[in-house]
Amino acid sequence: MATILITGGTGLIGNYLSRFLKEKGHTVALLSRSGKHSEEFPVYFWDIDKQIIDPKAITSADYIIHLAGENIGAKRWTEERKKEIISSRILPTQLLFDAISKSSHKPAAFISASAIGYYGAVTSSHIFTETDPAANDFLGHTCRQWESEVDRFQELAIRVVKIRTGIALTSAGGALEKIKKPVALGLGAPLGSGNQYMPWIHIDDLCHIYLKAIEDATMQGAYNAVAPEHATNRELMEAIARVLHKKIRLPKIPSTVLKLALGPMSEMLLTGSRVSSEKLIESGFQFRFANLQGSLTDLLKKEIRL
Ligand SMILES: NC(=O)c1ccc[n+]([C@@H]2O[C@H](COP(=O)([O-])OP(=O)(O)OC[C@H]3O[C@@H](n4cnc5c(N)ncnc54)[C@H](OP(=O)(O)O)[C@@H]3O)[C@@H](O)[C@H]2O)c1
Repeated sequence: MATILITGGTGLIGNYLSRFLKEKGHTVALLSRSGKHSEEFPVYFWDIDKQIIDPKAITSADYIIHLAGENIGAKRWTEERKKEIISSRILPTQLLFDAISKSSHKPAAFISASAIGYYGAVTSSHIFTETDPAANDFLGHTCRQWESEVDRFQELAIRVVKIRTGIALTSAGGALEKIKKPVALGLGAPLGSGNQYMPWIHIDDLCHIYLKAIEDATMQGAYNAVAPEHATNRELMEAIARVLHKKIRLPKIPSTVLKLALGPMSEMLLTGSRVSSEKLIESGFQFRFANLQGSLTDLLKKEIRL
């Protein structure tokens, strides 16, 4: 069993993933800016601005899972915020690279989060695969720069895997908690046209993808982590309503309202194309939650019982 260091492991995905990997028998440690003591996991400290990283974090790691970065949905995308979103991904990756370059101990693989935002804020019939280029928009630029920093670990003969993640659906927190609230109150409505695709993934499948990336040494490069069943925003809203035994009665929320309320970040909600999970499936991955309705029934089971 391996020792796995997770950066940003205190966040939404990290919380699920750290417990999942521990249950699978691995030793998990977190690398956090807070360095706050945890009963469950050793927590190593890093300060990206001061270029400080606890060397034990590196010397003890057989694998590194890199999730750290400012939450892209937390604040309005001002020019300053955009810079924070990019630098919070680039600078920690560079700090890890420098620390690992100098260390005599190298992890067997560096597995980094990336996002389907790589392909851009577009609604089209195209189904994006890993060979498509990065889009010429904010998230496209962010992911491309982030991934090229991650790729540098190959120079150190470290296997690199990039998990281009869709919207991670979880039973608590994250996007689903926000989306389901109005639906549960009978106030759900499609956003904008409602025809934009929302590539999604059940958190359990996402955790299994990270596990496979650790265990399967043939995995290398970018993989789209999205469920094979494509859903538009309207279909997602309707599926949540069905699972919660609610009705979508309201008309669509006009895109102008969302643009006014959220600014440029509204792009993320109003546009979205289809993304392929073929490469992952061809690598041997079997989805446990390939179907949206089944995934939502699993994730919202507490609410359904109420
Ligand atoms: N959730 C999704 O649906 C989704 C979809 C696509 C891609 N992703 C990507 O997957 C990764 C994990 O997502 P998540 O939803 O778990 O994120 P999250 O909940 O926002 O957590 C990210 C973690 O990163 C660390 N962090 C935040 N700002 C940072 C900064 N300025 N510098 C260094 N570290 C910082 C924090 O850990 P500490 O405070 O402990 O340092 C935080 O707990 C992110 O990079 C995200 O972009 C997520």
